[in-house]
Amino acid sequence: MPTASSAHRSLLLCLCLALLSNPVAASPSPRGLRFSAKDIAAVEAALPRHGSRASSSSKTTFFEVDRPLRPPRGSSGPCSTLLLSHSFAFTLTKPPVTAAYSPPPCLSGSDAPPVSLAVLEWRAECRGAQYDRTFGVWLGGAELLRGSTAEPRPGGVVWSVSKDVTRYAALLAAGNATLAVYLGNLIDDTYDGVYHANLTLHLYFRRGVRPSAAAAAADAVVPVSRSLPLNDGLWFVVQNDTDVQSARVSVPRNAYRAVLEVYVSSHDADEFWYMNTPEQNGPFREVTVLLDGAVVGAVWPFPVIYTGGINPLIWRPITSIGSFNMPTYDIELTPFLGSLLDGEEHELGFAVTNAQRSWYVDANLHLWLDPKSSRTSGGLVAYHAPKLAGSIVSRSADGVDGEYAATASRNITATGWVSSSRGNVTTTFAQRLSFSNTNVVSGQGSAQAINQTTDALTAVSGGPAPAQVHQSFPLYIFLGGDGSGTSSQRLMRRVEIGFDETRSRGGGGAGGEGAASTTTSTLRNSQVAAAEVTLRDDAVVGASWRMHQTYEYGASDGGCYLRNVSSVGYDVLFDHRDASCAGTLGR
Ligand SMILES: *[C@@H]1O[C@H](CO)[C@@H](O)[C@H](O)[C@H]1NC(C)=O
Ligand SMILES: *[C@@H]1O[C@H](CO)[C@@H](O)[C@H](O)[C@H]1NC(C)=O
Ligand SMILES: *[C@@H]1O[C@H](CO)[C@@H](O)[C@H](O)[C@H]1NC(C)=O
Ligand SMILES: *[C@@H]1O[C@H](CO)[C@@H](O)[C@H](O)[C@H]1NC(C)=O
Ligand SMILES: *[C@@H]1O[C@H](CO)[C@@H](O)[C@H](O)[C@H]1NC(C)=O
Ligand SMILES: *[C@@H]1O[C@H](CO)[C@@H](O)[C@H](O)[C@H]1NC(C)=O
Ligand SMILES: *[C@@H]1O[C@H](CO)[C@@H](O)[C@H](O)[C@H]1NC(C)=O
Repeated sequence: MPTASSAHRSLLLCLCLALLSNPVAASPSPRGLRFSAKDIAAVEAALPRHGSRASSSSKTTFFEVDRPLRPPRGSSGPCSTLLLSHSFAFTLTKPPVTAAYSPPPCLSGSDAPPVSLAVLEWRAECRGAQYDRTFGVWLGGAELLRGSTAEPRPGGVVWSVSKDVTRYAALLAAGNATLAVYLGNLIDDTYDGVYHANLTLHLYFRRGVRPSAAAAAADAVVPVSRSLPLNDGLWFVVQNDTDVQSARVSVPRNAYRAVLEVYVSSHDADEFWYMNTPEQNGPFREVTVLLDGAVVGAVWPFPVIYTGGINPLIWRPITSIGSFNMPTYDIELTPFLGSLLDGEEHELGFAVTNAQRSWYVDANLHLWLDPKSSRTSGGLVAYHAPKLAGSIVSRSADGVDGEYAATASRNITATGWVSSSRGNVTTTFAQRLSFSNTNVVSGQGSAQAINQTTDALTAVSGGPAPAQVHQSFPLYIFLGGDGSGTSSQRLMRRVEIGFDETRSRGGGGAGGEGAASTTTSTLRNSQVAAAEVTLRDDAVVGASWRMHQTYEYGASDGGCYLRNVSSVGYDVLFDHRDASCAGTLGR
């Protein structure tokens, strides 16, 4: 989320010469990885007259590839309600836009059937010039959606994102609450794009059969965020490595399961944290979750690249993974219920290892309550959270070219029992996290390559909802070019990024209600993209870019979705979709 600045110069200098050898020399500043409105205007003007350029006078649709949300078979609906419609002009440092929320009539009636799927749809338009902005949506202080906006074109862009918000069913059905949306936009003579957005809730209902306890949404969702009124988002802003932001929460005394869902996004000096040099605290970041001061879980974030990042053309019209709908991360707190059930307030805090300004972090505490008793009890049996292990090794061949490599790993394990009307059940939460990053500068500083992998295994065994999530986030970025210092230059960018995930639910043994069956789903979501910009006498005279994305999802319960889509410039070259599970994308 940059402020307006003259990015044009830095566009030319963005190869960050002497990156390794000279800490005071140019560093890969976020500005250097962005385009100014002038650059974009020059690119639009240089597009061929046919095809893409013709459409520059009409709206372009940008999209993030995701699987469509379908209600379970036999559901009724949707029952759709417009929650908010607003034009975000100069909103930076202003209070969030709010609207009174009360459950729609289809949900609030005493005979309303259970919700089988709840979808929050954000649809927005923008025209002119504008940077990507981060926005958040909160209901009763609990964050429901965080995203980056699309950067507009002169003729306008439109995009929409649909998020499954079924897990917030308790909030949606609860009494009156305030809906808040913060989108910190800035308008001036150059950046004139106003974001017009509609937020709609779509509800589907099921008849009869109740879902299994493991799959069911929490009975209560407690926000861990900042409270209104304020002039910003409700997220906490973590500013540096020692900054801990926290809130005090109390837990109903009959809870038997607790899961903390964490929202994170990186900004300013840490927007491209994975490219940071040792002088910028290196390329490793993690968000740690602290309960009364002790680390109880860690989030090793997926590197979301906003629509203006690295080279904004790359993300048009297919945006980067997670940019319109950022991923969230679950930390199982059930083993710690023993201390949380005392009826007192406890402190939930967030820190970011190696942080520079700024990280936006908040969370929702999902709680499942024992309907048959007013008191549950618990105890922590084992807890092991050794310090983060890691290193950064630098090698510099000659003063300019060189390499550094960073690694990190962390394990966290906690076991605790909870006794409720469901029995005395022991839950173990375990995280095994590892990270590696190399940053190689070559060609006398003319090229830089970042290759990173984050690997996160999170397992919940025993307990009310055994599950295992294995995530792997490969990231490769190449910045290069030729003709530096001459009147004719070429700037090259390449990005390869993946969000790979295997989730299994159920199984895992005694006490788990899902023990009878295990369902597994696998997602492989990959993008390969490149852009080339030609400059003559420092002015953009041409640009080309392409993107190829494959999205492969399969689940043991029969769900599947395959998509194979490719674009060149603003044009979609091919777009194969298959939800029939036939398993071929090539046609
Ligand atoms: C928002 O809703 C209004 C009223 O239905 C409609 O006129 C407008 O075009 C919508 N805007 C977007 C971005 O969908
Ligand atoms: C919610 O607000 C409406 C309108 O202000 C009011 O009529 C209703 O009684 C409120 N409901 C609850 C549960 O507070
Ligand atoms: C870190 O950030 C906090 C909160 O903004 C601030 O109070 C503190 O002085 C900062 N520490 C350093 C070392 O900059
Ligand atoms: C984490 O646990 C794994 C498997 O038990 C082990 O191989 C690894 O060395 C541990 N890492 C750290 C940093 O403790
Ligand atoms: C539950 O089981 C644990 C050990 O498995 C035991 O230490 C604890 O006392 C039991 N709690 C109750 C209330 O029975
Ligand atoms: C990145 O590193 C991984 C593991 O070392 C390697 O397999 C992969 O080929 C590298 N990617 C690129 C694009 O160089
Ligand atoms: C995607 O489609 C293209 C063009 O039809 C095809 O060549 C390619 O093999 C497909 N990729 C996958 C992973 O199916």
